[in-house]
Amino acid sequence: MPQREKKAVVFGCRGQLGVELVRELAARGYSVQGFDRSAVDITAAPGVERTLAREDPAAVFNAAAYNQVDVAETEPLAAFQANAVAVRNLAMACRQIDAALIHFSTDYVFDGASTRPYVETDTPHPLGAYAVSKLAGELFAQAYLEDPLIIRTSGVFGPGGLKTARGNFVELMLRLARNGQTVRVVEDHVASPTYAPALAARAIDLYERDERGLFHIGGGAAISWFDYARIIFRVAGLNPELKPTNEREYRTAARRPKYSALSNAKMESAGIEPMPPLEEAVRQYLAARGAGA
Ligand SMILES: NC(=O)c1ccc[n+]([C@@H]2O[C@H](COP(=O)([O-])OP(=O)(O)OC[C@H]3O[C@@H](n4cnc5c(N)ncnc54)[C@H](OP(=O)(O)O)[C@@H]3O)[C@@H](O)[C@H]2O)c1
Repeated sequence: MPQREKKAVVFGCRGQLGVELVRELAARGYSVQGFDRSAVDITAAPGVERTLAREDPAAVFNAAAYNQVDVAETEPLAAFQANAVAVRNLAMACRQIDAALIHFSTDYVFDGASTRPYVETDTPHPLGAYAVSKLAGELFAQAYLEDPLIIRTSGVFGPGGLKTARGNFVELMLRLARNGQTVRVVEDHVASPTYAPALAARAIDLYERDERGLFHIGGGAAISWFDYARIIFRVAGLNPELKPTNEREYRTAARRPKYSALSNAKMESAGIEPMPPLEEAVRQYLAARGAGA
């Protein structure tokens, strides 16, 4: 029997981040149990409670989320169930077994008015249903637990995205380029794209160092989606026609922050290794996904 300190559970284990958390925890010698939505739907409290009582882990990682930012505008209740009420389920069940909750949130809790990367003490002001639901999830975790570890991240890309319906930005760019289409990408929105394996490793580092509270882990670079697309095509050796656009031309159902880069300063001052440079992360991603789909 493994010691309880080395037992971990990952919800949402088939998502981009979930697969990396399971892999990294196992590599560090944890006995890790991953649950995808078909095994445990975190919106159903009894299943969450039963699962955690049975597994009795020391750490519960929640990588499950409703991430359809635009669709959330037509189904805000579904977003709220998965991103907020479900976090309440997890927090209450963690409390019962005295487990640590490591929960993930988003740069979209901010309104984008900043001109420098957001730090943990900046005031959130979400702009849409998805963002409100994620902020409510943070509040539920903080309401029911003394000291959850909450990690906000940005523009996640990982090889797991090859298998999810939602995919990620890199896959979208590769698909458009291969279709021979002109690729139009917004140049007036800035984020910090984050490589899922690097995020997973640093989240576990924070947990293992007993860091709790709110942390930002973005990719480390503040970059427009247009410039990010340029990096992807350069590293992939593709040369599609790439044209800049902007939010006036490219309307979406949900409002998004124009600037949502995250500062990793708090994570780094906790002694955690900085994130890899974005170009290096894209290179690693392309190598990890292989020829892919
Ligand atoms: N992706 C981004 O760009 C981004 C940006 C900022 C923050 N984040 C945050 O980072 C974290 C990881 O995101 P990700 O990119 O890994 O997401 P992802 O690839 O979309 O994976 C999310 C996973 O959650 C599962 N899920 C959804 N609802 C569930 C439920 N009710 N019960 C159990 N599982 C459920 C999904 O399963 P199904 O496939 O069955 O739906 C999917 O496997 C999330 O907290 C997300 O909000 C992501």
